[in-house]
Amino acid sequence: MTEPLKIGVIGLGRAFTLMLPTFATDPRIALVAASDPRPDARECFAQEFDARVFEDAETLCADPDVKAVYIASPHQFHVAHVKCAARHGKHVLVEKPMALTIDDGREMIAAAKAANIKLLVGHSHSFDLPYLRTRAMIRSGAYGRVRMINALNFTDFLYRPRRPEELDTKAGGGVVFSQAAHQVDIVRLLAEASATSVRAFTGNWDAARNTEGAYTAQIKFDDGSFASLTYSGYAHFDTDEFMGWSGELGQPRDADASYGRARQALQKATSVADEIAMKNVRAYGIAGRDAFRAGDNLAHNHFGLVIASCERADLRPLPHGVMVYGDQKRHLDELPSPNIPRSEVIDELYDAVMSGVPPLHSGEWGLATLEICLAILESAKTGREVELK
Ligand SMILES: NC(=O)c1ccc[n+]([C@@H]2O[C@H](COP(=O)([O-])OP(=O)(O)OC[C@H]3O[C@@H](n4cnc5c(N)ncnc54)[C@H](O)[C@@H]3O)[C@@H](O)[C@H]2O)c1
Repeated sequence: MTEPLKIGVIGLGRAFTLMLPTFATDPRIALVAASDPRPDARECFAQEFDARVFEDAETLCADPDVKAVYIASPHQFHVAHVKCAARHGKHVLVEKPMALTIDDGREMIAAAKAANIKLLVGHSHSFDLPYLRTRAMIRSGAYGRVRMINALNFTDFLYRPRRPEELDTKAGGGVVFSQAAHQVDIVRLLAEASATSVRAFTGNWDAARNTEGAYTAQIKFDDGSFASLTYSGYAHFDTDEFMGWSGELGQPRDADASYGRARQALQKATSVADEIAMKNVRAYGIAGRDAFRAGDNLAHNHFGLVIASCERADLRPLPHGVMVYGDQKRHLDELPSPNIPRSEVIDELYDAVMSGVPPLHSGEWGLATLEICLAILESAKTGREVELK
């Protein structure tokens, strides 16, 4: 029988609810402890998993039964929480973006190295099977080299309930920190080359949500290939229309019924406290008991339209496979439905911690993605192309 990896969770918010169906159903994982300042989330977790709960992260990291921690606290705490886990010798899966500055990212990597623990950054959508399959197809050489990648995602991100810092770029708010981290990861995964420069524009056109709600970025790679990434979180057009109305989490969506829902719901929040309370309804805890739980027969997670143009075909990852547009014909390279959503995250985490397999989504990987996200903000501000290190 597989020995389960004993995980402690730091931060029982929205991100945790999205990983919960994975953790709760994958036999390779045992949830043994959690920490969160919200008492109702702690109470729920203790009951649901018959597990230990703590108010602060340090006590959780000191728990001798915890072998690895999943850090899903707000961005600004990631650096302190990773360093704390490393001090206590715990392996780490930290949510994206790994940090808000390059220096913090470097400190996290150094702390992990010094403590000899594994540091992985995720979940990001580059873990999703359709992207991994597309990469394997590119690697097979059957379609020639990748020359260009286009990634396009339109969502309602900015109108989902938010904490104040999520709407303040200086504190890590806006779609570049939170959403480009996914899109850049996917593009880097498929390009399999080092990014050399970024030219970008960002959009901030709702004074009531005063942060980046949109961006478009061009990335050059050292092998001559290039990528174009566009994101809008302004809740108008929705790229799920291009994905057969399969949602980001693989859930079927009703296009008409869901149209305008995020904006409408947000109108009920008349104060910051109201909005935080609304956000917590989508998080783990008593208020969030009805938060989305993945069921059977879902499609794969996705992050909008992605097309990798190779010399002899365009490859388009989809929720059920990869569509190949070749010279003579097009066909769907079908993927089985996921038994456990996001199980690819556990594949990588489990192999890294239990068998010492070097993870793809390492600290260095996360840092390279963060560098591009920061370059998007810098290029938009200065009006210049930003060279990457
Ligand atoms: N990969 C994904 O699909 C995905 C989705 C959503 C969020 N995220 C990431 O997860 C992180 C959290 O975002 P969220 O939307 O879940 O926020 P959230 O506000 O819903 O949840 C954060 C949780 O952390 C708790 N918390 C705050 N301070 C803490 C501390 N010091 N110690 C322990 N817990 C603490 C909060 O009480 C809350 O329960 C962010 O970095 C975000 O980018 C990833």
